[in-house]
Amino acid sequence: MDCAVVTGAASGIGRACALRLAESGFTVALLDVGDAGETRRLVEERGGTAAGFAVDVTDEAAVAGVVGRLPGPPRVLVNAAGIIIRKKLLETSVQEWRRVVDVNLTGYFVLLRQVIPAMAAAGGGSIVQIASIAGHTGYGFSSYTAAKGGVLALTRQLAAELAEQGIRINSVSPGVVHSGLNRDTLGNEVIRSATVGNIPLGRIGEPDDIAKVVAFLAGPDAAFVTGADLVADGGMISTIHWGKAGGELHSFHSREG
Ligand SMILES: NC(=O)c1ccc[n+]([C@@H]2O[C@H](COP(=O)([O-])OP(=O)(O)OC[C@H]3O[C@@H](n4cnc5c(N)ncnc54)[C@H](O)[C@@H]3O)[C@@H](O)[C@H]2O)c1
Repeated sequence: MDCAVVTGAASGIGRACALRLAESGFTVALLDVGDAGETRRLVEERGGTAAGFAVDVTDEAAVAGVVGRLPGPPRVLVNAAGIIIRKKLLETSVQEWRRVVDVNLTGYFVLLRQVIPAMAAAGGGSIVQIASIAGHTGYGFSSYTAAKGGVLALTRQLAAELAEQGIRINSVSPGVVHSGLNRDTLGNEVIRSATVGNIPLGRIGEPDDIAKVVAFLAGPDAAFVTGADLVADGGMISTIHWGKAGGELHSFHSREG
């Protein structure tokens, strides 16, 4: 059975992607530095098949070992493993900067390097990279924003390079989504309500909101899409969201006729 490789599969967006791809009929390879046992249980509970691999995506030898033991030919790769360090530039040590760039950008590169030859040998496939609205805007923290900007650029760069091997590559830029990454931040009521106030659709995203977009880009309905980024953020970066002031503005102008 064809295999979908998902990194960061033990939690949040990676887990939701694994569940969606299992539903689409893939055997899912769950890669995570943490324990992906719960994701595997959830896949199997829904009648799917999965194999878990404990691996740090920055360790190329370990990733190569996993790719040699995949439960089927890889036709989909979802790069989702990520970390964030919430510090301003001058508070960020070189070590912290390197770790964030290592996991969020170099880790994606390591998976690409290891999976692409097997995917090409299997006849091609589709790669989806989880970027972020932080890669598009100044909303975020320097090391993370820089790494995500790198993911967007790398994805565009690879569209032409991989097309001749029958491989499409796209990215998804989530807005603010409930996951392990921001459980602490969103637990703060002031931050939560200010965040929701900046999202035109009026809610924080769920991991499955992103997984649906990933499944679309990974699947046949996106057969003519490569090198693209799809923003899934409830409208957050599409506009300056005026919130209450916007309502006042509209009623002021309707009064003025
Ligand atoms: N949650 C959001 O609001 C949001 C917004 C934009 C982008 N993203 C991106 O979505 C992706 C998934 O994150 P999430 O929000 O689901 O967070 P999460 O913390 O719930 O999941 C991230 C997973 O990556 C794993 N991981 C971390 N470092 C790893 C490493 N070195 N090797 C292997 N696995 C590793 C973690 O163990 C965890 O299971 C990340 O790339 C993140 O940057 C998240």
